[in-house]
Amino acid sequence: MAVAIIGAGQSKFGTRKDVNVAELAWEAVKPAMQSANVEQKDIDFMVVGTAGMWSSEAAVPALMYEYGKFEDVGSMRVEAACATGNAAIRVGYTAIESGEADVVLVLGVEKMQESPNPTVIELIGRFGSYFWEFENFGLTFPGYYALHATAYMAKYGATEEDFARVAVKNHHYGAKNPYAQFQREISLEKALNSPYVAWPFKLFDCSPITDGSAAVILASEEKVKEWGIEEKIWILGQGVGTGTANLSRRESFTSLRSAAYAAEVAYKKAGIDMDAPYKYLDGADVHDCFTAAEVIAYEDLRFAKRGEGVQLVREEQTYIGGRIPVNVDGGLKAKGHPIGATGVSQAVEAWKQLLSKAENGRQVDVKNGRYLAHNVGGTGHYSYVTIYGLEKR
Ligand code: COA
Repeated sequence: MAVAIIGAGQSKFGTRKDVNVAELAWEAVKPAMQSANVEQKDIDFMVVGTAGMWSSEAAVPALMYEYGKFEDVGSMRVEAACATGNAAIRVGYTAIESGEADVVLVLGVEKMQESPNPTVIELIGRFGSYFWEFENFGLTFPGYYALHATAYMAKYGATEEDFARVAVKNHHYGAKNPYAQFQREISLEKALNSPYVAWPFKLFDCSPITDGSAAVILASEEKVKEWGIEEKIWILGQGVGTGTANLSRRESFTSLRSAAYAAEVAYKKAGIDMDAPYKYLDGADVHDCFTAAEVIAYEDLRFAKRGEGVQLVREEQTYIGGRIPVNVDGGLKAKGHPIGATGVSQAVEAWKQLLSKAENGRQVDVKNGRYLAHNVGGTGHYSYVTIYGLEKR
């Protein structure tokens, strides 16, 4: 059974001390329901992606049931570290595919700034291997990804400047996105002169700590027909991969094997040629939690051959007009990274781009009618790749 997204919405990302968790979530749920033209009674099942350890509310599905005045609806909370959002979409997607549900609300929400930054950074650190790495060596996420960045630099000759160029691009597009945490351009000098967090990463190589929400309404093909829905995009394929908890068990630090595997599965399901998949896509949102992660993602997703992802950066091939536009919503770097909301927000972006609704001159050219989302939890502990399309398979 084909599954469509029939409505989408998201909150402004950033520091959201003005709202509580339910109010923040509603900023995404309300426009998603309005754009889908559905009411509470139409929703069969509600999936809430939230990591939530830093936040006051734990039972967010029940909270939203009450706040949103839902009735007789099943619900589930989902967590897959930074891939929580796309994992929540997977639960909704498979619920409809299996015939268990017809219309599903998928919400991702996170209020990370309810705890102080050092606490949040410590809690995120537990998404690696707590016993071997976090407790013994004190690694936190900038450090985990710095290991990958330095491996990539050593193997392929990438430089700190190459990584900074990713940040410049993503801030360029963040400046055009009214929902982004950082709506300002940055110069290469500013990125390169920002303070070190974990070498080679500086402040501008890191995604920030963010409050935000995003929501989509999923519907079965039958409902789409019954309701005569015109504005929709379809889930064409999804791949999910898992990695080892302990980084010392990994073969390579210049690729996330779980992401490369998830991409392969997603391309197969969507019927996309794996030799040059970018020729069949109009753009992609990739998990740039750190700048080097975006470069590695280009290769795991086969937008470039191994070692040549950095060339895409140098030639500005991932700006609009290049080989494949990437993160033209600002990415995690500039749009922000409210962990549970990020993967859902990538779906919101696919919805906007494919339906030509992107704001302020950041609309890609829709030629192929397909958009890709790549959402990674931990350092490839969980990877989700989802391909959205205007036409169903
Ligand atoms: N990029 C650009 N500017 C940033 C930023 C970022 N990632 N993070 C914070 N800032 C800015 C703030 O806006 C603030 O600016 P101001 O002084 O003009 O108001 C300033 O830098 C200090 O902000 P603060 O929140 O105190 O930063 P911090 O030093 O406590 O934390 C990081 C910065 C990079 C260490 C933190 O955001 C971090 O750990 N990010 C990674 C999160 C992560 O691991 N996510 C999961 C990835 S898989």
